[in-house]
Amino acid sequence: LRHLTTLEHLPRISIERLLDRAEALRDACAHGTRKLDVLAGRTVLNLFFEPSTRTRTSFELAARRLGADVINFDLSFSSTSKGEELYDTLHTLEAMHLDAIIVRHKEAGTPDALVRHAMSGVSVVNAGDGNRAHPTQGLLDVLTIRQHRPDFENLVVVICGDIKHSRVARSDIHALTVLGVKEIRLCGPAGLMPAADEFPHCRYYNDFDAAIEGADVSIMLRLQKERMASVDLPDEAAYFNHYGLDTRRLARAAKGCLVMHPGPLNRGIEIASEVADGAQSRILEQVGNGVFVRMAVLCEVLAR
Ligand code: CP
Repeated sequence: LRHLTTLEHLPRISIERLLDRAEALRDACAHGTRKLDVLAGRTVLNLFFEPSTRTRTSFELAARRLGADVINFDLSFSSTSKGEELYDTLHTLEAMHLDAIIVRHKEAGTPDALVRHAMSGVSVVNAGDGNRAHPTQGLLDVLTIRQHRPDFENLVVVICGDIKHSRVARSDIHALTVLGVKEIRLCGPAGLMPAADEFPHCRYYNDFDAAIEGADVSIMLRLQKERMASVDLPDEAAYFNHYGLDTRRLARAAKGCLVMHPGPLNRGIEIASEVADGAQSRILEQVGNGVFVRMAVLCEVLAR
């Protein structure tokens, strides 16, 4: 694997190899290893054109733990603010002999465009592009599920919220499908659902009470207001009433249902605090797993 821009078309064996590698790194860290030198002498650039807390920080931590040098590109102090075009920025940075670029951009397809335009042997890893893909989030989500429920073939997973604008949902659906989950249910208001033919193998719901019935995993998504026109913004109180996860709704799910959310959370809109902070919440485990998944991905793309 030279680049990671999407999980689409990635075979099961490649996904499982990345998950196994992330687990091995997690075990090594649990046994006291704080730093490895497998990427010593390599340089990783964080190139984020959209805000991030979890992804950017965990990529930086992952690269440093592997011994790489890290540059965090500061957009507000860069020459992009003077009108420099994306590919001129790319070629300028490449001239400094980078090994990997971690990119987040509001335009879907930007990571693949960087792969096509790159002139050096730089690896490109997608940290989220528009509503298309967030592959490392998809990997860390299935790693978190596998930790608790490795029996994917028995699992009913519900993904609820603004699926239409969610790159996380798309990468989760690809990973869960390849790993063979029994059933994927997609739920949200009609205006925030993907086209009916985008995921013909998933079951579509507008009623969250029905969608969560007997589910083993519930992945909650925030409203992606930054990708909506103002007329499409739902009333938040009404939204929580219909699509928020609270203890009453969680009781309809299977016993021990894993509660997940990629973050950032909007408490009281898509999830109640009592559930986000409750015994079934795996949200902070997801964050922790993000570091090991990103270490695994960097090892994989830079293994040359
Ligand atoms: N889940 C996720 O992508 O979070 P950040 O936007 O904080 O990176």
